[in-house]
Amino acid sequence: MPGFDDPAFYGDRWADVYDEHHAQMDPAPAVEFLAGLAGGVRVLELAIGTGRVALPLAGRGIAVEGIDASEAMVERLRAKPGGELIPVVIGDMAQVPARGPFSLVYLIFNTLFGLLSQARQAECFRNVARVLGPGGVFVIECFVPDLTRFDRDQRVQARAVTEDSAILEVSRHDAAQQRIITQMITFDGHGTRLRPVALRYSWPSELDLMAQQASLRLRERHGGWDRRPFDSSSAGHVSVYQRD
Ligand SMILES: C[S@@+](CC[C@H](N)C(=O)[O-])C[C@H]1O[C@@H](n2cnc3c(N)ncnc32)[C@H](O)[C@@H]1O
Repeated sequence: MPGFDDPAFYGDRWADVYDEHHAQMDPAPAVEFLAGLAGGVRVLELAIGTGRVALPLAGRGIAVEGIDASEAMVERLRAKPGGELIPVVIGDMAQVPARGPFSLVYLIFNTLFGLLSQARQAECFRNVARVLGPGGVFVIECFVPDLTRFDRDQRVQARAVTEDSAILEVSRHDAAQQRIITQMITFDGHGTRLRPVALRYSWPSELDLMAQQASLRLRERHGGWDRRPFDSSSAGHVSVYQRD
């Protein structure tokens, strides 16, 4: 049975509800930021998913391509207006199965952490560096780990409760592995449904070291897509690494 080590696992288990579940997320600030770095050449989104950000970016005339492990997610992208026009390779983002050069590669919404070991994340940095053209940039958006969210390495949240349904989010934290495994559990008239997520978090300094080992240098770090300063109160970061 496929599990967290299967790159397609997350997408295949979330594709039918992904867009509905993330409908409140406005892609505009990310699109604005990324468009400013595109440089008029080819751009690659790792883990393109249903095209939440790639489609509006392509709508600005930017030549976006994608990689994703999940056919089910990419089917959703292809069903949207303009989705068929975006070339997508089905494969593992750690291996970056694409031929460069790209002026911009981006991997957003914490998805680098979907690679469940330091070795897999470092492999991703190395392969991104391989497909970037000179001066090209790699942009990542990640949360800053906040271990105070957990009580004895556990967390339970009531996401929604109505007359005849409840959605709970149940997580376990493994400090040794830097891993968080979450199930979003829906109970309603149709029964019980599980939506699993596994993440291996990295600290910003750890990411910078992976980049450095891939010959990428940190050019900018912001506390969000609006370029607010990154500081000790930042819950996340948008980091731009450059290939010189
Ligand atoms: C949280 S979604 C993000 C989708 C899109 N980037 C966005 O911002 O909406 C994570 C995506 O990563 C893909 N994914 C997870 N692990 C992957 C891997 N190892 N290689 C390629 N894609 C992967 C999933 O299929 C899914 O489409």
